[in-house]
Amino acid sequence: MPPTALEEAQRGSRPPAKLRTEEFRLGRPEIVGPDAPEPPFPIALEGKVQRGFGRGGKDLGCPTANLPDESTTAMSSVTKTGIYYGYAQVIPPKDEPTQLRRVDTKVLPMVMSLGWNEFYKNKRLTAEIHIMHKFESDFYGYEMKAIVLGYIRPEFDYISREALIEDIEFDKRVALNCLQRPAYQEYSKDPFFVLDGNL
Ligand SMILES: Cc1cc2nc3c(=O)[nH]c(=O)nc-3n(C[C@H](O)[C@H](O)[C@H](O)COP(=O)(O)O)c2cc1C
Repeated sequence: MPPTALEEAQRGSRPPAKLRTEEFRLGRPEIVGPDAPEPPFPIALEGKVQRGFGRGGKDLGCPTANLPDESTTAMSSVTKTGIYYGYAQVIPPKDEPTQLRRVDTKVLPMVMSLGWNEFYKNKRLTAEIHIMHKFESDFYGYEMKAIVLGYIRPEFDYISREALIEDIEFDKRVALNCLQRPAYQEYSKDPFFVLDGNL
């Protein structure tokens, strides 16, 4: 068993440096994992969205919503670092005006990076969720719920920003293909989420 993300963080160690990024990138499959989620999945996470460094949106064209450490312990204590997929939902505060539209509060497909952001040499383990949807306003401080359903790939240290962007785009396609499978789609209706009408 590889060490979990939390064990790595506690030891202050990082995953083996520079995995064979280029080799991996050449033979990437369009769909990964079994036909139905297998343990440790599904993993449910929730917490208030925090500000990251803001590079995701600006540098990479892929804005991410960060979850606080205490919200991700459930995941980092059973999984390794890497890129995952599943569903997420942003929940606006009750009885307060919000800029979010109804379409923004649906259960939506997501990709998640659990790691050190090798490319940016971060000092802390972070859990960042990119929801595959065009939001027109920020939602920092709002509650976010997510169900993680599978693992896509390890985190790499890229030779260029362009290569990282290319792979993130690939990750999004893989996630959408994976979520097409009926046993995964089921989770978009899981009662853990706040289902239509109850927002
Ligand atoms: C799907 C996805 C895949 C990612 N893959 C990697 C990766 O392989 N290596 C890496 O260093 N960072 C990876 N990242 C993390 C980005 O570097 C990170 O989202 C970016 O630093 C933005 O963070 P910020 O908004 O906190 O600045 C990935 C992020 C996402 C959403």
